[in-house]
Amino acid sequence: MSIHNSINKGKEITVTIDGKVCQSTFGKTILNIARENDIYIPTMCYLTKVQPIASCRMCIVNVEGVDGMILSCQEKATDGAVVNTQNDELNKERQNIMKLYNVNHPLECGVCDKSGECDLQNKTMEFGLEEQAFTARDQHRPVENWGHVSYDPALCIMCEKCVRVSTEITGDEALKVKFGGYGSTIVNTKQDKNYASLGEAAAVCPVGALVNTDFKYTSNAWELTKIPSACPHCGAGCQMTYEVKNEKIYRISNDFEFSNLCGAGRYAFDYANENVSKDKESFSKAVKAFENAGSVIFSSQTSNEEALILQKLKEEKRFKLISHEARAYQRFMQSYSTITGKNLYNGTLKELSESRAVIILGSKVNDDSPVVKYHINMASKWHRARVAYMHPLEDREMQSIVTQFIKYEAGSEEGAAALLADTLLKDIEVPKAIRSFLDDLDIGNLSAESNIGEEELEALSRSLIKKSGFSLVVGSDLYAHPRAEHIAKLVALLEEYAGFNVICVPPAGNAMGISLICDLDDEVEGKTVGYNTPADFTLSALGDGDLDMPSMNQQEGTLTTIDKRVVPMNVALPYGGYVLNDIANTLGLDAEYTIEYTKALPVEKGFEAIEFDALPDYFDSVGNENRGYLLKVQKASLKRTLEDVAEIEGFDGAVIYNCDPTDQFSAFTDKSKLLKDEAVLLGSQQFATVTKLKDGENIRYTLDGVVFDRVFKIDTSMKGTIALNPTFDMGLSGALLSSYRFSRLDFERAGK
Ligand code: SF4
Ligand code: SF4
Ligand code: FES
Repeated sequence: MSIHNSINKGKEITVTIDGKVCQSTFGKTILNIARENDIYIPTMCYLTKVQPIASCRMCIVNVEGVDGMILSCQEKATDGAVVNTQNDELNKERQNIMKLYNVNHPLECGVCDKSGECDLQNKTMEFGLEEQAFTARDQHRPVENWGHVSYDPALCIMCEKCVRVSTEITGDEALKVKFGGYGSTIVNTKQDKNYASLGEAAAVCPVGALVNTDFKYTSNAWELTKIPSACPHCGAGCQMTYEVKNEKIYRISNDFEFSNLCGAGRYAFDYANENVSKDKESFSKAVKAFENAGSVIFSSQTSNEEALILQKLKEEKRFKLISHEARAYQRFMQSYSTITGKNLYNGTLKELSESRAVIILGSKVNDDSPVVKYHINMASKWHRARVAYMHPLEDREMQSIVTQFIKYEAGSEEGAAALLADTLLKDIEVPKAIRSFLDDLDIGNLSAESNIGEEELEALSRSLIKKSGFSLVVGSDLYAHPRAEHIAKLVALLEEYAGFNVICVPPAGNAMGISLICDLDDEVEGKTVGYNTPADFTLSALGDGDLDMPSMNQQEGTLTTIDKRVVPMNVALPYGGYVLNDIANTLGLDAEYTIEYTKALPVEKGFEAIEFDALPDYFDSVGNENRGYLLKVQKASLKRTLEDVAEIEGFDGAVIYNCDPTDQFSAFTDKSKLLKDEAVLLGSQQFATVTKLKDGENIRYTLDGVVFDRVFKIDTSMKGTIALNPTFDMGLSGALLSSYRFSRLDFERAGK
């Protein structure tokens, strides 16, 4: 940005478009301002969420005093500009552009998937083109099947939207333009990876050139009922729309101009608990089990309303309420808030994408939270952000955006957080007690224990000089760490004193909502009832428990997202069985529908007393998010005391790290027929040498009381002695695996 531009950015300006006086701010394009004022300018290549592509010329306008036609999608408006968007000359030019687009784009819309929602089809009609004016010799360009998506070069209008999404948003960087004049085409340079993130690239294709392979030829767009909702698979809670016909989900779409979906959100939709009817006998047993329960254990695949029902039942029945991941997160955030004085972290995804420097600590973020990775990628692509990735394991999928990898020893997260706080708060004024805590840190010892070199920290600190807009992303490795509460305080120092935009990525599903709504306990007592968790009596949406429950796409309710927003989730598929609310009513609560609890969510935690049906669920024409509401930040009591960093007990030898592959999160994503992943223990050659394991060998080990029978596989691209242990295939037991993610591998060989 030039000095002139940065000085003026945000300054109020007045622009007249088609006679309408529009107030706006400097830095916005003519197209942006027109859209803010509901003035229509046609576009073909414009995609709001990426930088202007400026390849189609449809958005041309005239600006008084400026010769020729101006591309409104990339031209910033100046104060006092008078713009015309409609006149014969402009329309003729647009018509000519459409004629060229239609050269050999077969207008055989009847067989095309995109028919009914195709930009080319719509604009061909809008500009009154009744026939194909020009033709060119047909070239033989067969359809390419790239796995999740298929590409038909004959339909491609080379708008480049898909390439920009792959580069600027998802960062898989698989799609490229292959220039060749009339024979130009899009190529997938990483076909072997079959990235599910390419679903997002297909979503933005304005024509039927890039489509979901599975959806192809299955339905006309206009036959599908669109049900807006939120993705329940991880804590991000992304906007999504179920597209349904005859009680079947055909595909998932999204408001792709402004939001994104990862592969799980897009393709893991077929996990409903189907063909369930009311089983009265099992229902009575469930009620009895609740009456006699010493503890109710539940997974994070639980809506805010269900969490509130469980909390109310706890108050009535006095059982212990257990949700391991949410409890770890709750403790972490409670400790965090003693430094900041607020119950929520300050960070947002939008600010993350606008950062000039990002630090990631304690998360394999590409797998843990794909949209967080997307926003880090945006910061990297748009602002050339420095990205420091601090983790015991390098991640190849992050290579193109990470500018500094800082490896630390598994287990030394507290030391790593202390070193980070010390480095980043060096020249910043902090209260005396905090300064003396930092001054007293034994840097040499912390550095030796964590294996983070002082020169690495100096390099990190140097890279931040002259930058502004810092973000820190922390994740699940920290929440269940034995020293989690102190780590939380160290991280919070950076929000409080160094002005970082901090995001504490929720560890799973609706863990953030649950952690705010429920008074959770630590220890299980007596007989247990499990909700999507195995127990003495199990309620299960997977259909393998003692009483069936609806899956997340079979129920209404709200989720709390990573952006601290309470968003609605709607019913995509019918469900014929009992729900938690039925049990609660029998036990003495009183609500006809689960969503009656939406307005009763705790206001003292930041929720609002709003009826479910009154929750909005859309982005406006310029991308303002009107989904549900934002939690109100609540005051928390301050207690800015820090402790000595504990000595760590290092891990010698072979270590395993609980981590699911990208797009897999739980038994529910595992049900998806489109996302097939093999659950194997994946380690390096070095890991194989240390453990004396052979590629393909069967082993057994136990974590958190859950027994794993796994095949060990060598991944030659991995290094070090930490192997990846997926948990998504462990059915309901997955919810029990919530202790510290690294552990020593203690195994038996099969047959012993
Ligand atoms: S595949 Fe679709 S999005 Fe990509 S360049 Fe072609 S028309 Fe545009
Ligand atoms: S990032 Fe999480 S919430 Fe968003 S689409 Fe993916 S799984 Fe769903
Ligand atoms: S929308 Fe401006 S050039 Fe395509």
